[in-house]
Amino acid sequence: MMQVPCHIGIIMDGNGRWAQRRGRPRTDGHLEGLKTARRIVESANRLGICYLTLYVFSTENWKRAESEVNFILGLVKRYLVAELDYYRKDRLRVRFAGDMAGLPPEIAVEVRKACEDTKDYDGMNVVLALNYGGRDEIVRAVCKAAAAGKEITGELIAANLDNPDVPDPDLIIRTAGEFRISNFLLWEGAYAEYYISDALWPDWTEENLKDAITSYAKRERKFGAIVK
Ligand code: IPE
Ligand code: IPE
Ligand code: MG
Repeated sequence: MMQVPCHIGIIMDGNGRWAQRRGRPRTDGHLEGLKTARRIVESANRLGICYLTLYVFSTENWKRAESEVNFILGLVKRYLVAELDYYRKDRLRVRFAGDMAGLPPEIAVEVRKACEDTKDYDGMNVVLALNYGGRDEIVRAVCKAAAAGKEITGELIAANLDNPDVPDPDLIIRTAGEFRISNFLLWEGAYAEYYISDALWPDWTEENLKDAITSYAKRERKFGAIVK
């Protein structure tokens, strides 16, 4: 049996390029990217992944045109409402990573509802990284730890991250060919394996996910130790 990662994080990139190559507005790419998210959630669940973190919107994505930002956040809301039945059916648990306080209230409400409605499910965990930045998460964690008046240690910071009970990602995938981390899971990804796919996110299929997992299965993870 192939070694399947327990936790996969995905930087879902390339929606804009997908649309631009077709002479269509960037928002069409986000719409198509949403369909891919649904497809890949199903695939990951079928392949036995326990945790899937999807990078939906970064703390830096506010720099985009207001119309694009509003479109993406509107899609997130639609997704949460439309997919809830599917999540219930497959007993998937929705979780959130990011700065909830910085989200528009009408989005935050839906995110909270999806998390609350699915919190007792024992299926795959789908972590939505939304208004998420790795640096922001670490700063918030350190502030929480400092407020508790304790000595700051690595363990204490880790315990104050957004989802302390979620294991660190084993595999982080980035689509659309860019070799950068763009502020995703900076703390948790310290010993993740990385996989870059040239395919744009809207074109991603279960085959691409299987290729990433196959590549992961061939890696030798050492965590700084000497492996005989
Ligand atoms: C990823 O696709 C979606 C978000 C960052 C929200 P992009 O919109 O970044 O697509 P490209 O990189 O411009 O092609
Ligand atoms: C990273 O993609 C953020 C998400 C996928 C949500 P970006 O497109 O924002 O990253 P950069 O700007 O290319 O680094
Ligand atoms: Mg991009």
